[in-house]
Amino acid sequence: MKVLFAAMVGAGVLLAGPVNASVLTDKGCVKCHDAEKKKAGPAVKDIAAKYKGKGEEAALLAKLKDGKGHPKSKESEADLKAAIAEMLK
Ligand code: HEC
Repeated sequence: MKVLFAAMVGAGVLLAGPVNASVLTDKGCVKCHDAEKKKAGPAVKDIAAKYKGKGEEAALLAKLKDGKGHPKSKESEADLKAAIAEMLK
């Protein structure tokens, strides 16, 4: 029972992870990206499934910076990098 409980708590933390992550909240990404569900933009879990471990960070950063294929973001490059890293974690 103890093990099951620990597993459940662990899963809860994982699910809550991306959207509670302060960088995504601070930078306004959560306005359009929910952890689990599609909002204005795709769910963070879908973005992670698509890009995680693919080395696409630089391409995604360029998209957000230039507003090509993404609503243009006015955050600094460092902030965007951190936010993208958080999504692909
Ligand atoms: C105004 C709404 C909005 C905000 C704010 C927003 N996004 Fe998005 N995002 C979108 C939409 C819409 C798409 C889907 C674009 C498409 O695939 O054409 C998207 C797609 C993405 C993708 C996937 C791009 C791809 O090529 O598949 C990433 C990564 C992403 N957003 C990161 C971020 C990050 C990081 C932030 C916060 C700095 C952020 N977004 C803030 C609307 C938003």
